[in-house]
Amino acid sequence: MVGSAIFRQLTMMGFNQIITRTHSELDLCNQQAVANFFETEKPDEVYLAAAKVGGIHANNTYPAEFIYDNLMIEANVIHQAFKSGVKKLLFLGSSCIYPKMASQPMSEETLLTGKLEPTNEPYAVAKIAGIKLCESYNRQYGNSHNVDYRSVMPTNLYGPGDNYHPENSHVIPALIRRFHEAKKGNSPEVIIWGTGTPMREFLYVDDMASASIFVMNLDKKIYTQHTEPMQSHINVGFGSDMSIKDLAEIIGCVVGYQGKIIFDTSKPDGTPKKLMNSHRLESIGWNAKVKLMDGLKIAYADFLKQSNL
Ligand SMILES: NC(=O)c1ccc[n+]([C@@H]2O[C@H](COP(=O)([O-])OP(=O)(O)OC[C@H]3O[C@@H](n4cnc5c(N)ncnc54)[C@H](OP(=O)(O)O)[C@@H]3O)[C@@H](O)[C@H]2O)c1
Repeated sequence: MVGSAIFRQLTMMGFNQIITRTHSELDLCNQQAVANFFETEKPDEVYLAAAKVGGIHANNTYPAEFIYDNLMIEANVIHQAFKSGVKKLLFLGSSCIYPKMASQPMSEETLLTGKLEPTNEPYAVAKIAGIKLCESYNRQYGNSHNVDYRSVMPTNLYGPGDNYHPENSHVIPALIRRFHEAKKGNSPEVIIWGTGTPMREFLYVDDMASASIFVMNLDKKIYTQHTEPMQSHINVGFGSDMSIKDLAEIIGCVVGYQGKIIFDTSKPDGTPKKLMNSHRLESIGWNAKVKLMDGLKIAYADFLKQSNL
């Protein structure tokens, strides 16, 4: 989803030599294949948007794959990029890197100050390792090889190219599917786990792409002024959150579902609030632009297209 959005935006900006690979064309867990790729293509800059990604269910069911694949992808890409002479690289992490009990909104400084949320700990540990890989290459090779590897931490994302799998998807694509199926099946109600009160933040994927390109191209002096060598990551959020109940109502409205929304309060809620503190990025001059309702309309159209409806 994000890789395609970055590709679209760079293309619109006039870049016409963007090299991409799908998973089936290049397995980034395969060290030799990644080495061959960098040796042959010799890119100038790298956006690392590939990762094993999923919601709570997927993270809980496949913890070994979440830690192994993500560690291998990052280690292979960052190291082989360095070996082939890449000076600029952007690594995409996640808001899951912050401690479960981090004060809200979560700022960059709270990294490694407490225990992680157990359900996605393997994924989060791999993402933290990605940040530390970038920082370590900067610290060791920044002066000698002019290496400048940066990291951005996105909040929950949604938009065209999302994964609408019934079990392994994130909350927005999962709700789009559920409401759509309820509408088609004339179901009188949609049941959602929990009380609907947890607060979450959502960012449209094209905003994430724009933030990624913005951070990649930031003047090194400005980037250095706003980060530290061992705390170099930058949060990318929408700036405000909303309850799952409000989100469900908006998605129901976008999809055109007219039945009832029932909250099953016997089911767990998860963390009461998860909001990024994006002041670091905002103070450098970037803000999210796409409103939730507008982004959701495009996401629903994409769901219909993906489902051939
Ligand atoms: N989506 C979110 O809400 C969210 C939130 C925070 C952070 N992020 C981060 O943002 C980045 C992009 O996420 P996304 O939502 O765009 O995920 P996505 O749509 O699932 O894209 C990830 C891509 O990586 C590919 N991939 C996975 N394993 C690979 C491997 N071993 N070799 C080569 N390619 C591989 C996937 O291919 P297959 O699908 O074919 O396996 C997929 O095309 C990730 O780093 C993610 O952790 C996403």
